[in-house]
Amino acid sequence: MAKKMRVGVIGAGGIFQGAHWPGWKALDDCEVVALCDIRDSALEAAGALCNVPPEMRFKKYDDMLKKVELDIVDVCTPNCYHCAPTVAAFAAGCHVIVEKPCATSVAEVEKMIAARDKAGKQFMVAQSLRFTPEHLAMRRWVDAGMVGDIYYGRLSLLRPRGVPAWGDFIVKEMSAGGPCYDLAVHILDLALYLMNHPEPVSVSANYWLEISNKPSLMAHDPKRYTVPDEMAAGFVRFANGACIALETSWAINAPEGTYNVFLAGTKGGMQNNPLTLVREEAGLLTNTTVQVNPDAGIASHSEEIRRFVESIKKGLPSPVPGEQALITQRILDGIYKSAVKGKEVKV
Ligand SMILES: NC(=O)c1ccc[n+]([C@@H]2O[C@H](COP(=O)([O-])OP(=O)(O)OC[C@H]3O[C@@H](n4cnc5c(N)ncnc54)[C@H](O)[C@@H]3O)[C@@H](O)[C@H]2O)c1
Repeated sequence: MAKKMRVGVIGAGGIFQGAHWPGWKALDDCEVVALCDIRDSALEAAGALCNVPPEMRFKKYDDMLKKVELDIVDVCTPNCYHCAPTVAAFAAGCHVIVEKPCATSVAEVEKMIAARDKAGKQFMVAQSLRFTPEHLAMRRWVDAGMVGDIYYGRLSLLRPRGVPAWGDFIVKEMSAGGPCYDLAVHILDLALYLMNHPEPVSVSANYWLEISNKPSLMAHDPKRYTVPDEMAAGFVRFANGACIALETSWAINAPEGTYNVFLAGTKGGMQNNPLTLVREEAGLLTNTTVQVNPDAGIASHSEEIRRFVESIKKGLPSPVPGEQALITQRILDGIYKSAVKGKEVKV
């Protein structure tokens, strides 16, 4: 039997234990052999879950990378700590999968890409939403030429009351920002992927912090935590003439939550929720809905990990390469820059 690929984890908290571990566990050709986390409680919980013995649990990732021979490193730390461990893992000669958002600035993403190139290893950003059955279906419509050239996107992921009460999402030093980094990064990545990553040119945007820091809206202690920002909206222009309107929130006085990616193309339109293809058929504008087989068993995080490993073994392109994350990051940087300047900015 071929040797299993040895996986080390940096940041063994919620997303690793709940979503990545089932993905690794499902693969016969990989084995999680080492864990790193700054918290004892995470090391203990993840160690028990993955059957990683105490001597293979580390508080510092440099120690883990020095002492353990690894093929793959899975980075699941808070956003502001994605770049340094990724660069270190590449320097140790490993392939790297890193949670979304890839990083918190264009400069960081560029550093990660440069480290990848120096190491000659595979790099994937864990944009799990690309791998849900609905979104795989949208990609099939694009690939089958049913949508044509996409020239407009309306992306909305609003939580009326959904300031995260777990993890470090609301600690700016950890997350770098609010729902843009937590939520919008998902729908933006998805839309860009379905549009085949056009070149962004400019962003006009604003963000707000108006209602979140009231005790009634915070599930956490408002004396200890302050929300960085709670809502953002923006308009992105691309070099090919396409545009995207984007809105996202952790808190807003809206009648309902939304989770909608609508894209309009020259041959058809499509949206994810409910999954619908819009086309003119026999002279009639027709909405087609699709049944997604609930038994298909595609868990998006497991699928992303399976594809990452497959890309390494078969020498395929990364399923979510750093270059695509760089385009998303240019837009995220642009949103905050535009909000501060109060005008449209070049990205
Ligand atoms: N794809 C998704 O749907 C999804 C969902 C949730 C979180 N995430 C992403 O996953 C990442 C982690 O989020 P989470 O919810 O697991 O948070 P978490 O707080 O539950 O886990 C993060 C872990 O990283 C550890 N850590 C922090 N700094 C470290 C360091 N320097 N070295 C080693 N360990 C360190 C923490 O102690 C913690 O255990 C974030 O980037 C978040 O955006 C993605």
